[in-house]
Amino acid sequence: MISYIVSKQQLAFYLYLLSREENIYAETMENQTIGILGTGNYGTALGKRLLQAGYEIVFGSRNPLQRSFITRDKQLSNVKVDSVKNVLTNKEIEIFILAIPYSSMESCLRPYKNDLVGKIFVDISNRTKPSKIESNAENLAIIFPDIRFVKSFNMLSAYAVESENFGGSIRNFVAGNNRHARERIMQLSRDVGIPPVDCGNLGAARKLEAYPLTLMSGWGIPRVSCYVDNIRAGWERRKPEKIGNDIPL
Ligand SMILES: NC(=O)c1ccc[n+]([C@@H]2O[C@H](COP(=O)([O-])OP(=O)(O)OC[C@H]3O[C@@H](n4cnc5c(N)ncnc54)[C@H](OP(=O)(O)O)[C@@H]3O)[C@@H](O)[C@H]2O)c1
Repeated sequence: MISYIVSKQQLAFYLYLLSREENIYAETMENQTIGILGTGNYGTALGKRLLQAGYEIVFGSRNPLQRSFITRDKQLSNVKVDSVKNVLTNKEIEIFILAIPYSSMESCLRPYKNDLVGKIFVDISNRTKPSKIESNAENLAIIFPDIRFVKSFNMLSAYAVESENFGGSIRNFVAGNNRHARERIMQLSRDVGIPPVDCGNLGAARKLEAYPLTLMSGWGIPRVSCYVDNIRAGWERRKPEKIGNDIPL
């Protein structure tokens, strides 16, 4: 009898969780348009995943007419590419992905900073040089204190985000000072099928931006050994082939 009651309670609990899950999805995805600045590798990769997850997306480009996806990419052919200005000043959009080079972010956002108060910007950029005292994301947050910046997706390559067949599990490390903004981006990450890891405040962006650099620096030895192997293989190919058989029959 007790086990029956427990299992009934458990069932009720699972049903509650399921209904909650549905509500979360309804809340997060309903009528949500994500603005993606930049129509390059990362912007298009993430755009596809967002589309598959049910989000509406709009791209912001410096040359919207030339960057149309109609002939470029079948999956994105119905997606609008608009000017950076139109996307950034669109009142319906609350979340933006900054899929442009870090060096151009400040000049891109500055003219519209009054329209961007309280909006959430996802900084996916990586650094060219490591730094223990600053990060791109923190710098942006200092320059634009009224914008909520979240560091995310920078440790995943565009290939990993786009490729359905990419092997192994992937994780998305998320950092941001505003808890609500961080949670929104973690939910977006869940929605696109990439489990998020909460890294806390934006200070964590220093480590998140440093990691891809340390990873690449470790590629030195494999690169040299590949190079040596290639030279060796070239020598082997150049050796004259033996005619006949040396082994006595
Ligand atoms: N690719 C990766 O695997 C990867 C991994 C981690 C992080 N990231 C980060 O993702 C961001 C985008 O990288 P990506 O690989 O997608 O680069 P990308 O293929 O070169 O695309 C960048 C896009 O940004 C726009 N853009 C370029 N120069 C600009 C400028 N001066 N001002 C404004 N917009 C400009 C362009 O779009 P329009 O011409 O349409 O304006 C361009 O297509 C970078 O911050 C990078 O650090 C990339």
